[in-house]
Amino acid sequence: MRSIEWQDGKVRMIDQRLLPATFEWVEFDHYRDVARAIRSMVIRGAPAIGAAGAFAMALAARESRAQDRDLLLADLREAAKVLCDARPTAVNLSWAVERLLRRAEAEASFSAISDALLDEAQALADEDVEINRRLGAHGATLIQEGATILHHCNTGALATVDYGTALGVIRAAHEQGKKIHVLLDETRPRLQGARLSAWELQQLGVPFTLIADNAAGHFMRIGQVDLVLVGADRVAANGDVANKIGTYKLAVVAQANGIPFYPCVPTSTVDLSLATGDEIPIEERDTEEVTDVVYRGMPIAPDGVQVANPAFDVTPHRYVTGIVTEHGIAYSPFEVSLRRMVEASRDG
Ligand code: MRU
Repeated sequence: MRSIEWQDGKVRMIDQRLLPATFEWVEFDHYRDVARAIRSMVIRGAPAIGAAGAFAMALAARESRAQDRDLLLADLREAAKVLCDARPTAVNLSWAVERLLRRAEAEASFSAISDALLDEAQALADEDVEINRRLGAHGATLIQEGATILHHCNTGALATVDYGTALGVIRAAHEQGKKIHVLLDETRPRLQGARLSAWELQQLGVPFTLIADNAAGHFMRIGQVDLVLVGADRVAANGDVANKIGTYKLAVVAQANGIPFYPCVPTSTVDLSLATGDEIPIEERDTEEVTDVVYRGMPIAPDGVQVANPAFDVTPHRYVTGIVTEHGIAYSPFEVSLRRMVEASRDG
């Protein structure tokens, strides 16, 4: 099952805000509505929002009233800006939108641009699934029989077009018949672990235990975690990793306890234009995500409290054991190994 697809001239996606209670598709035929859907997390996860951006560019070409190539390209550049602004941290969004823009610019014929963009978006979505399967196979070599894996946020089929990155690695190991167990961080404040990863692992039949985020360090210290697998929203050239808030804390505690920590990323998540993670923009989301939680019918915080809600953090590369990609596992020095991985994907 894909999280997003093109159907009858529209893009449709699973409304991830409603899971696990309700499984519902939503359809869009205007790119600005897709941008709003990305912002409000109808669809989320770095590769999935990349695919959403790509299909939205195909919509933008169809929506445009332009009568010649230059005006159509101007409309597409405007659409690209709106889409890239929807969420700033995951580089997959701008990577995908810029790929679609380049495809439009390469098309000499005005009348061919619209179909070319749909072909490109479809190709990008298909490639995402294929890349995740390859990434899963590489990552599964890290998982021993009987291993317990700690996982943060949601990195599965829902966070990608299908299959997943870190959860894809877990899925690959499970499909190989390895007996594994997953400790799932619930992942405050949006609870992607509890709502989405738990839902996915239940469907796949992978044994797991849901834990409060605060319990992760405890399980690592008492020796119940063999490795930590996470996704990422952007990886800088030096191997610094931006991922869901709370990842940094996991990486530090993992290293303190001698537990390997591996982000699992398609090379589209690697941003070689940024030397270090200090340059990665960190999205600050609405404070209501933190406060609008009800505990036994009561709000969890008094009215009017000051709240900060950074959605991502940066883990410095010194805490990263290796980075799993579709071309293999990159190790330190990451400046060299990550560049090699990205070049391998450019060579096809
Ligand atoms: O805010 P979200 O839910 O979009 O954040 C998702 C994550 O942080 C994932 O770990 C990351 O995008 C990788 S998903 C394959």
